[in-house]
Amino acid sequence: MSNFNEERVTSVHHWTDTLFSFTTTRDPSFRFRNGEFTMIGLKVGDKPLLRAYSVVSANYEDKLEFFSIKVPDGPLTSKLQHLKVGDPIIVSRKATGTLVLDNLHPGRNLYLLGTGTGLAPFLAIVKDPETYERYEKVVLLHGCRQVAELAYGETITEALPNDEFVGELVREKLIYYPTVTREPFRNRGRITDLITSGKLFEDIGLAPLDRAQDRVMLCGSPQMLADLKGLLEGQGFKEGNTGEPGDYVIEKAFVEK
Ligand code: A2P
Repeated sequence: MSNFNEERVTSVHHWTDTLFSFTTTRDPSFRFRNGEFTMIGLKVGDKPLLRAYSVVSANYEDKLEFFSIKVPDGPLTSKLQHLKVGDPIIVSRKATGTLVLDNLHPGRNLYLLGTGTGLAPFLAIVKDPETYERYEKVVLLHGCRQVAELAYGETITEALPNDEFVGELVREKLIYYPTVTREPFRNRGRITDLITSGKLFEDIGLAPLDRAQDRVMLCGSPQMLADLKGLLEGQGFKEGNTGEPGDYVIEKAFVEK
């Protein structure tokens, strides 16, 4: 049996010149945990050209959704960005990843810290009712250079709170904090600086990060991960992994080409 399913594109949305999202059909046998990634791609000639992508859609949805950068000369994304409704796309039958609830110890508040396309896995996590059963508040930070790159802002502030399945939980528990570094916006600055200065906690009205009670998931560029890892480890947070839960978990945002 093949390790891949062939799906069809059902919608495409271009956020900016460099960012887009698309949805596909979903083989009902494809199972994943919210926060995981899978391999997707296109057949080029006879060969599959594949990259890792976090699944944006929740595991109870009957579609799959992905969030991607566009790289003009990137082997895969230069082609993916031209996807049209009805086009075929290959999706692995397996998903994996460390950004899953089971890899964290129980706690009070859950912080989801993402930059750029590092937002993707957290979109599945904030659609998961289990997330809200485990935590009192769920704080989703999305850091971008420009306002236009704050993809999914309306999904998070308008669609999700009105969602039939998780709307009530979202309204009660989800705090969304978009922040921009290179142009004016209501929230400014890097996630790291917002945490160290305490500005984030003043703005959202929660106590500063506390290893004893708070849990964190990180997804972004290697440097963003290294800086936040240093910050958290400095406060005593221990990294979790599959089979070994911790206070925080990490995944590189997949910005492959
Ligand atoms: P900045 O504009 O100050 O570089 P990128 O597109 O480079 O991945 O950046 C996405 C967002 O992440 C930008 O707002 C960027 O801020 C921010 N960022 C980049 N590096 C880090 C880091 N080491 N720690 C925290 N945020 C970072």
